[in-house]
Amino acid sequence: MSSSSNQLDKKSQAWSALFSEPMSELVQRYTASVDFDRRLWKADIAGSLAHAEMLAAQGVIAAGDLADIRRGMAQITAEIEAGSFEWKLALEDVHLNIEARLTQLVGDAGKRLHTGRSRNDQVATDVRLWLRDEIDGLSTLLAELQRALVELADKNAEVILPGFTHLQVAQPVSFGHHLLAYVEMFARDAERLADVRRRTNHLPLGSAALAGTSYPLDRERVAKTLGMEGVCQNSLDAVSDRDFAIEFTAAASLCMIHVSRFSEELVLWMSQNFGFIDLADRFCTGSSIMPQKKNPDVPELARGKTGRVVGHLMGLLTLMKGQPLAYNKDNQEDKEPLFDTVDTLRDTLRIFAELVGGIVVKPEAMERAARRGYATATDLADYLVKKGLPFRDAHEAVAHAVKVAIQQGVDLAELPLATLQTFHPAIGADVAEVLTLRGSLDARKVLGGTAPQQVRAQVARHRARLA
Ligand code: ARG
Repeated sequence: MSSSSNQLDKKSQAWSALFSEPMSELVQRYTASVDFDRRLWKADIAGSLAHAEMLAAQGVIAAGDLADIRRGMAQITAEIEAGSFEWKLALEDVHLNIEARLTQLVGDAGKRLHTGRSRNDQVATDVRLWLRDEIDGLSTLLAELQRALVELADKNAEVILPGFTHLQVAQPVSFGHHLLAYVEMFARDAERLADVRRRTNHLPLGSAALAGTSYPLDRERVAKTLGMEGVCQNSLDAVSDRDFAIEFTAAASLCMIHVSRFSEELVLWMSQNFGFIDLADRFCTGSSIMPQKKNPDVPELARGKTGRVVGHLMGLLTLMKGQPLAYNKDNQEDKEPLFDTVDTLRDTLRIFAELVGGIVVKPEAMERAARRGYATATDLADYLVKKGLPFRDAHEAVAHAVKVAIQQGVDLAELPLATLQTFHPAIGADVAEVLTLRGSLDARKVLGGTAPQQVRAQVARHRARLA
């Protein structure tokens, strides 16, 4: 180990010989990021090791230096994992903290690590590596949530509830079909994440501060070591853009919005006025004043947290909009919104995969609601079309029938055949089947329709896709 002084440790006094006065404590706190960016430590060390291995292979540093760096990084890893690593605010960020400790441990080899590298390409690499791995975890959770929904859909393929438009009863639908609508949304969210992952998984290292470097670096080799799909092809772009973080947050926002819509429905369905479902007690809380209350806190919070993630998207977009090329310190502000987006989405997906399994379905209440609101009116119109009426005439005839049914306070199916025939003589005894909820559901056999046989086919498709 070299006995030469460690410049990084003196940073609290000045950056280099150039600086003649130290930062005030306030400015130090203002500029430091170590309190939050320390969570990048694993990616930082992985990036440094890949860089050092390449430097040695290219003959830029000696094999002995590489061995020292590896030994030092192994110890630092152990210290961080044990919680004994001393993070110093004066060393500003995760990068300088680790490098300073490395130099303390192994001397000159530690000081050689930064050859051909800048914190600008280093941090861009760290964030990309970290996000890539987080995306993998999120994708697994998203698949679990989809599987839970698919299983619940399969059990409820035959259960009928009113489908709404404008939150007014529209047509009967299968509850399984309704649940599979969310599976479609989450499947697209998963695709979006996979797409973001591809663009995220490119290597900035080798761009150095902004212009590239004069050392003979083998960037492809570093990318391969780190499992990255490619190398960023323009050094100015590589160190400065955070579009990968922005598009990840956009994908996360959409996913949260899907969770939020589902949450809104869960809250509605659980209210006494609907009574369609119950949620397991472990996802609800009581009231401190009203003893009868059981509140759907988890879906409500998910709906609320969606606002928070969308806010992070706005924050990141605004962070980027006025920045000239190349790196600016503004970019240090990318981390907290990005980290919080990942944390929020991860917790939400994990909880919802479990919550879906704990949904208690109340089929009678659903059916009862579907029988109010003339949900089979379209079926009666379609019946008349099959008897030869133009659709618009059929629509008008049925509107009259609904009007009379409302006046009498009965459902269409409860009107006597003779009454129905006053609206159109083509109506025969075979109309009875058409006016049932079951008949309405079974008739919608078109691809993507709500007929239970279609729902089962979709369940099979999703199961195979998610296996
Ligand atoms: N902590 C910084 C960030 O997150 C690292 C890069 C600093 N680079 C610089 N030239 N000051 O962006």
